[in-house]
Amino acid sequence: MIRLAIFGSGSGSNALNIIEQCKGRHDIQVALIICNVEGAGILQHAKNHGIPSVVIANNELKTEEPLIHVLQEHHVNWIVLAGFLRKIGSKTCQAFPNKILNIHPALLPKYGGKGMYGHFVHEAVYENKERQSGITIHFVNEHYDDGNIIAQFTADIDSTDSPKEIETKVRELEIAHFPSVIFETILK
Ligand code: GRF
Repeated sequence: MIRLAIFGSGSGSNALNIIEQCKGRHDIQVALIICNVEGAGILQHAKNHGIPSVVIANNELKTEEPLIHVLQEHHVNWIVLAGFLRKIGSKTCQAFPNKILNIHPALLPKYGGKGMYGHFVHEAVYENKERQSGITIHFVNEHYDDGNIIAQFTADIDSTDSPKEIETKVRELEIAHFPSVIFETILK
């Protein structure tokens, strides 16, 4: 049984979708939720589904040892970032080589990097009058949004679309594709 940890900082819509898609599977389970924000929505999803969760404050994330210890305690062997707004440190990357996945709400390498998250991404896509946006699922290294790309999915953007409407189209792609790409990558 592969044991996934999902890291998140926000509402956890992607985490909830992954949890639901794992139900009934006998090969992959969500074993732990890691969050750096007390009270974030992702923690409520963990509680509702009886999944252990741990809040690790940003300063503790910096030293990395507490995080790695918690992951080892829960026998985690893959990590999925789903709206986690902190960089993953090099010690954590070394402890989980090519076993950390992230989803970014744009077509990397454009619109990625420090500070490019959530509505900032869709506003930049809108400002640049892009005719396409989408999602990128990639391996994680110690730089923001920089690891090898696993898959990308695109959505057409109309000239009349607002940043909010762009976000809606991108989130539809996340819900449609993230779980299956995770499963295919892990089970390869
Ligand atoms: C999503 O847009 C995802 O692409 C990005 O952060 C957001 C997370 O939203 N990594 P949620 O917390 O899963 O609702």
